Amino acid sequence: MRRRAAEVLLGNWTGASTVPSPALYPHQWSWDSAFIAIGLRHLSPERAQRELETLLAAQWDDGRVPHIVFNPAVPLGAYFPSPDFWRSSTAGRAAGAPAATETSGIVQPPVHALAAWLVHRSDPDLSRRRGFLERAWPALVAWHDYLRRCRDFGGDGLAAVLHPWEPGMDNSPCWDEPLDRVEPAPAGSFRRADLGHGDRADRPTDLDYGRYVALAAHYRDHGYRDAGTEHAFVVEDPGFNALLALSENALAAIAGELGRDAAPHRSRARRLTAALVERLWDEEAGLFLCRDVRTGTLVRDRSVTGLLPLALPSLPGPVAQALVRTMTGPHFGLGTACGLVPSCDLRGRAFDASRYWRGPAWFNVNWLLERGLRQHGETGLADALEQAVLASAGGSGFAEYVDPHTGQARGATGFSWTAAVVLDLLARTGRAAEAQAGTAAGAAAAVAKAGG
Ligand code: SER
Repeated sequence: MRRRAAEVLLGNWTGASTVPSPALYPHQWSWDSAFIAIGLRHLSPERAQRELETLLAAQWDDGRVPHIVFNPAVPLGAYFPSPDFWRSSTAGRAAGAPAATETSGIVQPPVHALAAWLVHRSDPDLSRRRGFLERAWPALVAWHDYLRRCRDFGGDGLAAVLHPWEPGMDNSPCWDEPLDRVEPAPAGSFRRADLGHGDRADRPTDLDYGRYVALAAHYRDHGYRDAGTEHAFVVEDPGFNALLALSENALAAIAGELGRDAAPHRSRARRLTAALVERLWDEEAGLFLCRDVRTGTLVRDRSVTGLLPLALPSLPGPVAQALVRTMTGPHFGLGTACGLVPSCDLRGRAFDASRYWRGPAWFNVNWLLERGLRQHGETGLADALEQAVLASAGGSGFAEYVDPHTGQARGATGFSWTAAVVLDLLARTGRAAEAQAGTAAGAAAAVAKAGG
């Protein structure tokens, strides 16, 4: 299993970073790279450092870390929206896009400080020799400052996202309501590249794609300015903010290592956690909900993003316990209907076991939940989830995502962050020998063992 995961990850390395999937995503993606670095550190701590360094080198002057860093060697038509669509080096000048690198102008979840800290810990001597944390520090601090300074649209200390791609869960049902306001770009005005590499039924619909394009074009045409621009889509997402809080804690740990003041970062993590509970926790639903900032209302759809705050060590005990009940209850079915936690409510109006972020289970998300379960004392559930992640990843050919009921591969295979989280779990638990051989039978056995 370890060898096969390593082959995936090393095969997707381009010389400076790792592509999530050579055909479907042939450039560097921001939150993918953070998870990739967390796995890559077990193969080559130096490469893992370089993965993050390449991404951070594309940071904009205002501190934003772009969601895609384009590889100039890849043909323009290989991915849409391509660099000419984003026009970061022309339209983005106002916000200070990097002159030498083409990037997108939106962001993705801030998992980078956490990744940097974990990469450092895998080989502290090398990290110190290369001045890895010392060099990453200003970029990581500026990134978090950008989110605090420019994205607090709700005025409550939480960062808002301006595009469904920013929280990473592109076509979650949670976006349906806020997206209703968006006039889609005409169907003939762009050509999707993703459908050439995946089953149409596993990908977002054309209508949703038209809306993604319209939102991104609007932001671009306003110079990627946050303030003073009318944004149709403004959402506070619990997963995005939980990862920011987790990364603030990681910045505190990095500050300690560098002999800097850790206190501001610890207190930001505490404030973010408190704001999450105060603003997005929903007792009745038993999980955190997204807030549509334009209407001030909570979106009622249940998504796995609302379970991610479990990864926060300082989450109040009763909230953590309620999240575990929700995860194992009828809406997410962990240990009963499903071996891995699905991306959406199994009983929700929009549940679809195959379609991108509308039901399938994702490996990075389950890696975060496994950590959350473990740190809140749910060892049995964490062990079962860990085994299900390993078996399901191996059995699906390191799929991008899987049907949560059957473990069948969906989207691309040979997916980098799937291989990365496998490497991390194997290294962390030292249970490589116990992992099933990575066959479909192994996956089925682990899913069955987990009860589903
Ligand atoms: N995940 C989106 C895509 O499909 C955008 O990053 O390309």
